[in-house]
Amino acid sequence: MTRKFDFLVIGSGLAGISFAIKASRYGKVALISKAKLDETNTAYAQGGIAAVTYKPDSFEKHIQDTIIAGDGHCDEAAVRKVIQEAPAQIDDLLEWGVNFDKKEDGLFDLHKEGGHSEFRILHHKDNTGYEMQQSLIRKIADNKNIEIFENHFAIEILTQHHLGEVVTQHTPNIECYGAYVLNEETNHIHKFLAKITLLATGGIGSVYATTTNPEIATGDGIAMVHRARGVIQDMEFVQFHPTGLYNPGERPTFLITEAIRGYGAVLRCKDGREFMQKYDERGSLASRDIVARAIDNEMKIRGHQFVYLDVTHKNADETKEHFPNIYKKCLSLGFDITKDMIPVSPTQHYLCGGIVIDEHSRTTIKSLYAAGECTCTGLHGANRLASNSLLEALVYSDAAVKHATSVLSGISFNEFIPDWNDDGTKLPEEMVLITQSFREVEQIMSTYVGIVRSNLRLKRAMSRLEILFRETEDLFDRSVVSREICELRNVISVAYLIIKHALRRKESRGLHYTIDYPKRMKSDK
Ligand code: FAD
Ligand code: SIN
Repeated sequence: MTRKFDFLVIGSGLAGISFAIKASRYGKVALISKAKLDETNTAYAQGGIAAVTYKPDSFEKHIQDTIIAGDGHCDEAAVRKVIQEAPAQIDDLLEWGVNFDKKEDGLFDLHKEGGHSEFRILHHKDNTGYEMQQSLIRKIADNKNIEIFENHFAIEILTQHHLGEVVTQHTPNIECYGAYVLNEETNHIHKFLAKITLLATGGIGSVYATTTNPEIATGDGIAMVHRARGVIQDMEFVQFHPTGLYNPGERPTFLITEAIRGYGAVLRCKDGREFMQKYDERGSLASRDIVARAIDNEMKIRGHQFVYLDVTHKNADETKEHFPNIYKKCLSLGFDITKDMIPVSPTQHYLCGGIVIDEHSRTTIKSLYAAGECTCTGLHGANRLASNSLLEALVYSDAAVKHATSVLSGISFNEFIPDWNDDGTKLPEEMVLITQSFREVEQIMSTYVGIVRSNLRLKRAMSRLEILFRETEDLFDRSVVSREICELRNVISVAYLIIKHALRRKESRGLHYTIDYPKRMKSDK
């Protein structure tokens, strides 16, 4: 079946829905999500969204904090754009019904996180993302111009390749005409033709054995653009959050927000001693790359599986008031954070790199825009400053709407794209072939491509991955398409890109640390 829309939005997190709301004023929107609408990284966000609201904070301070965290690799124009546009984006969220916590005097109750020089994080308790996701879903519920497709999995974006042309990285003017989408309820593959396509497919956590990301985070958008010969950058900068709750077997890892350190919690070894001052004068509030590496080091030296985060010295009622979900979660596991220390360890959390976009959110493929965690805008550089990603998603979705609607009238549907061809394929063989390969990717990446890297480990990871790549492509060619086989292909592509980019970087910078090149080079080029 063929469906036609002015805008095809792939992803229902903050980037996708905020784009859909604004684009729906100009045309018909298809909003597709491979799971339920609210199963997104967005819904899991805890700490909040960074924005300059009151003095003594200033744009300049937020800009400098972002650039310092980014370790010399940020694009300053992107940083300035995002931070200066933040207040307008916050106004949009408020208009859409998002409820940020306020103090008794009516001003926003601002939190602070690692690397921030001021209190500037707007939040809703310790579940800001859930509040945003639900508010936005309510906002689109009655919108006649937005058609929602849950449990619809985008397999490939449509380009000239699907017209039989050979498309390479050097093909001028690669164009996007929409996507092939699998309806998981009927198992039919539909052709969604669109004048404008937006990828808002989120993160890549499922590439690792432990992650704070839900299982939808398989890097599909990045892999699709890579296959379509678009440009992907900075994949080596994978962010590990320092304080995932240590609870082996739980997936995704439950996050202990960095805001709790901004509130006064400190990191301690199992024997109760503080250790962060050894690594950075900002102590437990140093930027994320530094804290995660320090914890990793302490755990390795001592042979421990976790360190502690201690908030027991703070007022118990205030702690429960600010962090009710963390309090409840820990209580359910048998400890009370107002009296007991919290066991934590670093876990994969975010990807700074991704699909390259410009200031209008254009990818290198015509009529294809992207926003949110799947992109590389230059804002985060080599290490993202906490709570800058929700903001980035909003700013670049807004930029995409502005640009896309200015060119919309000049674009027509490509009616020559054929239907999906399943000839010569059979129902998948044993599912175990797919699930086992998936586990192998996670193990390879967590063992060899984690917080501390080396040439030897990266090369070993690459050679293991090549075997999985060949086996999976062969299986894909012979099988009827399923979400599982597509996701496996995608995590393999993402893992390949991370390793390839990591091998290319002959220095340590931000989130990329290698024992073979422990120093940062003067220039990052
Ligand atoms: P997502 O919200 O992840 O949405 C991705 C969407 O794409 C989903 O709807 C998914 O179904 C869809 N999708 C993916 N692939 C396909 C496909 N093939 N076909 C169809 N649909 C597809 N950032 C902050 O700024 N502040 C915070 O406090 C914060 N806390 C966080 C806490 C946690 C536990 C996590 C995991 C992240 C946190 N982040 C935080 C990061 C932030 O939440 C994400 O970077 C951001 O929400 C990403 O939004 P997005 O719209 O790009 O993607
Ligand atoms: C957190 O709450 O610690 C996560 C914030 C972020 O990832 O930006």
